[in-house]
Amino acid sequence: MTSFTRRRFLQQAATAGAACSANLMFGGFSWAQTPASGANAPTRVYLDFRRTFPPLDRNLFGSFLEHLGRAIYGGVYEPGSKLSDPNGFRKDVLDEVKHLAVPIIRYPGGNFVSGYRWQDGVGPKKDRPRVLDKAWDSIETNQFGTNEFIAWCRLVGAAPLMGLNLGTGTPEQAAALVEYCNVEKGTRWSDLRREHGIAEPHRVQHWCLGNEMDGPWQIGHMSATEYGLKAADAARQMRYVDHGVQLVACGSSGPFMPTYLEWDREVLEQCYDYVDGLSLHRYFGNTRETNGDTAKYLAMNLSMERQIAETAAVCDYVQGRKRSAKKLWLSFDEWNVWYRTTSGDAVDGKRQEAPHLLEEVYNLEDALLVGGLINSLLRNSDRVKVACLAQLVNVIAPIVTNSNGLLRQTIFYPYSWALQFARGAAVKLLVESPQYEVPGMDHLPYVDVAATYNAESKDFSVFVLNRDLSKAREVEFLWEGSAPSRVVESQILTGDDLKAFNSFEAPQRVTPRPFEKPSRSGMRTRFEVPPRSYSIIQWSS
Ligand code: AHR
Repeated sequence: MTSFTRRRFLQQAATAGAACSANLMFGGFSWAQTPASGANAPTRVYLDFRRTFPPLDRNLFGSFLEHLGRAIYGGVYEPGSKLSDPNGFRKDVLDEVKHLAVPIIRYPGGNFVSGYRWQDGVGPKKDRPRVLDKAWDSIETNQFGTNEFIAWCRLVGAAPLMGLNLGTGTPEQAAALVEYCNVEKGTRWSDLRREHGIAEPHRVQHWCLGNEMDGPWQIGHMSATEYGLKAADAARQMRYVDHGVQLVACGSSGPFMPTYLEWDREVLEQCYDYVDGLSLHRYFGNTRETNGDTAKYLAMNLSMERQIAETAAVCDYVQGRKRSAKKLWLSFDEWNVWYRTTSGDAVDGKRQEAPHLLEEVYNLEDALLVGGLINSLLRNSDRVKVACLAQLVNVIAPIVTNSNGLLRQTIFYPYSWALQFARGAAVKLLVESPQYEVPGMDHLPYVDVAATYNAESKDFSVFVLNRDLSKAREVEFLWEGSAPSRVVESQILTGDDLKAFNSFEAPQRVTPRPFEKPSRSGMRTRFEVPPRSYSIIQWSS
């Protein structure tokens, strides 16, 4: 591992008072959800299908695969395994991801990408070099590269979100990769792809211009102005090759950065005209920022919303300064819970192939927070067009493999519900919830609700997080205009033990169970959500 890790940086920043204090996380931010009178009052949700955001971009619930630990090797690709197909792709993982219907997958990094030569990963496998991946101190065999990734994406039905090396890489090499992937034929790099046996261009639309370039842990880290200029140049050259690409510039690595928002502003001042989106990253944990207080932890999705609002404000500020007609969208292309495996052996590849890195074991409370984070993304789907649960397999992941099969971690379930049930457009809700107090922080709503309505199928889905750790909470929907007729799906994730987790020995400890279908009386529907729970209810008209 590089001597200067993200974790060490965070610790230093915390000591200097620059990391997320409770105030930075929550202070002075007013929630979309308003207080209800009385601590035991029901949560009232006023909803009207005529009030929706623009249609959801399916890419809101994408994911991420990095050349890191066992994500690629031993995760999606394991030649010689009894579970793999003739291409070396793990069939169990492929089926699971296909079944999940993940819309877009970011690749190949992450920190890895900032030292990656994409040319090492294409062409005959026997000629590909074994190299040292300096980001994770691991051995990269290059047996899986761009073409294998795109082939795998096609099989699982996902679009690629390709990361570019703007650390050691140059804008010229970035444009060469676009040429390799997207030009049909008759140029140096497109003909090389054809020599590699791929006649049809990959037509990759979405590209990330580097990764976390604000971080001193990043290979090729530079100042905001330097990066902004480099990103602008890369974007210009890439568009000369293919004007249809969608480009995402690197925003701040998170609110813990001392340069948070300043970085974003300075970068955009250089490259606003050349890009379409700006990235955000964020990892949450129940130690660092919350001191192990689960009541606080389960409200951290609200601080994701604050981060989105602040980052959007910077984009709009630069738009105004430039008198530009273009509004940038946001790409929340790394988000998850990650706090247990952030240092020591968990991040040190020790020059091994496919080492066990960042193998975070998720428990029930992590899954509940992931549910809350999904609600937050839905509530911001007018601005966030791409978001990636980081990551997908083995590395801080909902899916874990061993030589005999795979395991669904707790966070798999809220993520799969988002993919299955969040369809159409997010509904603009008015939610009145009783609140609780966390010392030193604002009042926080017990019940967090998000909803989507699909005008074509007339399906309406509601996602409810109950942050109350000890009490069931009553929820009342007040339908305005029209009400749906029948509940078609109703599931809940809950349990007595917030620290319970799944393992290969006990894979069903934390799994969803059916939830009693609420019934309607006139224009009202009432039901109770158990303490410590995340549920989905889908109605149809
Ligand atoms: O997802 C793990 C790492 O977290 C990524 O490589 C990096 O971008 C972030 O710091």
